[in-house]
Amino acid sequence: MSQILWIQTSTRGEKSASRQVGAKIIEKLQKNDPNATLIERDLQQTEIPHINEFTLTAFYTPEEKRDEAQHRAVGLSDTLVSEVLAADTLVISTPMWNFSVPSVLKAWLDHVVRTGKTFTYTNGRPQGLVQNTRAIIAISSGSAYTETPDLVSPFLKAALAFIGIKDTAIIHAQGVNDPRFSETALPNAFAQIEKAI
Ligand SMILES: Cc1cc2nc3c(=O)[nH]c(=O)nc-3n(C[C@H](O)[C@H](O)[C@H](O)COP(=O)(O)O)c2cc1C
Repeated sequence: MSQILWIQTSTRGEKSASRQVGAKIIEKLQKNDPNATLIERDLQQTEIPHINEFTLTAFYTPEEKRDEAQHRAVGLSDTLVSEVLAADTLVISTPMWNFSVPSVLKAWLDHVVRTGKTFTYTNGRPQGLVQNTRAIIAISSGSAYTETPDLVSPFLKAALAFIGIKDTAIIHAQGVNDPRFSETALPNAFAQIEKAI
């Protein structure tokens, strides 16, 4: 049975453009594979702390030598990593915030891109450890890319490729706050889904 992991980041609940696009992606994936299971990780519901010195030290301390506080610090990261490792398809719904991703998504990545878990180095070269997982990313932006540079796609593609997820499709909902594009941004994104999945 295949597993879908859906990461959601928007603060705007059901009104969220990136969630609406993500929901259509999930609908299509489940139509293609009715037995697929879905795990939802809403980063507005899960508090993901920034990585600090204490957590980093805990990551690098062997499991059997960690004290209780270190186990707690690593526990959330372990859970998030295991969700990624178990997923056949990773769906990320994210708005563009200040040309990049919301900091909750960056915090999630900092917990998931973990040495010895999702990547390692072999002869000095990075090697991703997430096998046979593809990603589909829904990005919404207030402006069209003629007005705002899209740094979200290259950043997320590079971060996911680093952990081994190299098959990545991006669905863009551009200009959701621009009266010239707001009517067409979502229908255009839905049309991209039909072609990509
Ligand atoms: C803090 C913040 C920063 C934003 N930065 C950008 C930006 O750099 N470029 C852009 O086009 N839109 C920007 N926007 C607009 C959002 O990208 C737009 O409203 C988005 O599509 C909302 O997605 P959502 O409905 O899924 O939350 C920003 C919005 C917020 C709240």
